Amino acid sequence: MFKNFKNCNNTEDFRKLAKMRLPSPIFHYIDGAADDEITLKRNTESYESCDLVPNVLAGVQDIDMSVEVMGKKIDLPIFCSPTALQRLFHHDGELAVGKAAQKFNTFFGVSSLGTFSLKEISENVKTPKIFQFYFHKDRGLNDSMVQKCKEANFDAIALTVDTITGGNRERDLQTGFTSPPKLTLSSLFSFAFHPMWAINYFTHKKFELAQLKDYIKEGSNLAISVGDYFSSMLDQNMNWADAEKLRAKWGGHFCLKGIMSVDDAKKAVDIGATAIMVSNHGGRQLDGSRSPFDQLAEIVDAVGDKIDVICDGGIRRGTHVLKALSVGAKACSGGRFYLYALAAAGQPGVERAINNMRNEIERDMKLMGCKKVSDLSQKNIKFR
Ligand code: LAC
Repeated sequence: MFKNFKNCNNTEDFRKLAKMRLPSPIFHYIDGAADDEITLKRNTESYESCDLVPNVLAGVQDIDMSVEVMGKKIDLPIFCSPTALQRLFHHDGELAVGKAAQKFNTFFGVSSLGTFSLKEISENVKTPKIFQFYFHKDRGLNDSMVQKCKEANFDAIALTVDTITGGNRERDLQTGFTSPPKLTLSSLFSFAFHPMWAINYFTHKKFELAQLKDYIKEGSNLAISVGDYFSSMLDQNMNWADAEKLRAKWGGHFCLKGIMSVDDAKKAVDIGATAIMVSNHGGRQLDGSRSPFDQLAEIVDAVGDKIDVICDGGIRRGTHVLKALSVGAKACSGGRFYLYALAAAGQPGVERAINNMRNEIERDMKLMGCKKVSDLSQKNIKFR
């Protein structure tokens, strides 16, 4: 069993360590997904439905892994997707993830349900930053988030479009997970069995949802499930016109996160988005949804020359990144691959997780006979 993050060589190692460190409702919030979790599993398995076809004798001593996405050159073709509630997983939360991403000069995403203010994040983290936007019924809150992104010099906004209602996360129903954690008899047991987590949580800055706290009491103070939050606070009438207006109000790089169909990818181009994240929210929303990797080729063929296509989700290995890049993604992104590491060991853990991924991508590019990302193409991949 791994007791130390320095022995964690892959996502599954970090997952096991996170499971030991976290009270179970919190671990299962990260680890779990919707309904029967079929899509969660498929998101990773889909990368195994094709094989890489390497070339050799290519002189691969020096490898350039950089890509340009949403107007920024980043040194790695994978970045940290925005994820919520990070100070529940480790008291340094977004600052730990952002500083780790900065060491590798890759993008770092901050959620609307983030736990440090955008100002504090931008003062501490200089790497390119995306703000993940939930479109609330409260238009004052929406406007304030755009304003805060401008003031904090964020590089892009990603509007999440796959959370129009809460997914059915049965693990959360079973454990009673809420944000902030509710003190029930069983959760007290779980906290008592994870004293280091509990000491850290209760002795650091009080938990808050920094972007929302002035607008939504329920989001910051009352214990509420994430599903209930989506269903009650977000605007279920959100449509393409709203997305276009938001893009215009923001004026910078604008990404739609959670696009799965070719038709929607084309509409994203029409409203002037500069990127899409092909994503099913880590399988946490619509179970039975197709995986991002399975959908990637047809989306790239339709819009890959007009918009940055990012493959989000299910990535556990450098070879998964190489497969998505071969199909035509501009970059990849993921949540759990760094969240388990955040829970396991804070910033050094996230650094190790990104470094593991970096080393795998570098090694795999050499083994593929590719010196730069643009050397990868559909010729490098064969579907079974
Ligand atoms: C989730 C949201 C908050 O999937 O992104 O839990």
